[in-house]
Amino acid sequence: MLLCNACSHELMIMTLSANEKPHKNIFETILARRSVRAYAPNELDRNTIQKLLEAAVRAPTAMHEEPWAFIVVQNRQVLKQLSDRAKPLFIERLHRTHHTNVHAIDTFSNPDFNIFHNAGTLIVICAKPSGHFVEADCWLAAENLMLAACAIGLGSCVIGSSVEALNTPEAKAELNIPAEFDAVAPIIVGVPSGETAATSRKKPLILAWKQ
Ligand SMILES: Cc1cc2nc3c(=O)[nH]c(=O)nc-3n(C[C@H](O)[C@H](O)[C@H](O)COP(=O)(O)O)c2cc1C
Repeated sequence: MLLCNACSHELMIMTLSANEKPHKNIFETILARRSVRAYAPNELDRNTIQKLLEAAVRAPTAMHEEPWAFIVVQNRQVLKQLSDRAKPLFIERLHRTHHTNVHAIDTFSNPDFNIFHNAGTLIVICAKPSGHFVEADCWLAAENLMLAACAIGLGSCVIGSSVEALNTPEAKAELNIPAEFDAVAPIIVGVPSGETAATSRKKPLILAWKQ
């Protein structure tokens, strides 16, 4: 049995079935996470998804409200349709917010572009829009989920460009998202089809360090 150094949690047991070497500790996992945009055709099984959700719900949560709820979509046709509906909405949003990024507009105008990068699994973290920290809770759960995915050799990527489409009444009806819930954090997950290079980061900007 292979256990996580940091937590000895059962989560890491599935490392054995998820085909890749586990990362040794949480810091290495944080450094190894990438937004993965190229996936092998392998489908993820229910057990793997359940483990990712277990990691998600271990996130800190304001007032211990645990506001999150999850939608899992593993139907490629549904994902393709959702992508097709999301693209014009996202382009409109770019125009509305004066983001005239020509490359982004070109990409999202391409009929062959799938905003879910052809991943076979989309996990949408949803919540009822009440309380001050609901969105924060959902994003913390999202990062937990993505780090857990990375720790077991899976790739993931936030797909913010799908949020508007996911929150339309049509998409909610199709995906069984109850009307009172909002889609907050959509994340694709899958087996990476290759290596993804790390993106750069600025050094932490420390505004003050009072001692
Ligand atoms: C809120 C949010 C929305 C994002 N939306 C998208 C998206 O729609 N499509 C995409 O390919 N990547 C998306 N990303 C991924 C970012 O582009 C990525 O995190 C960033 O370029 C840094 O790369 P890294 O995650 O590999 O370090 C999103 C990330 C965040 C945090």
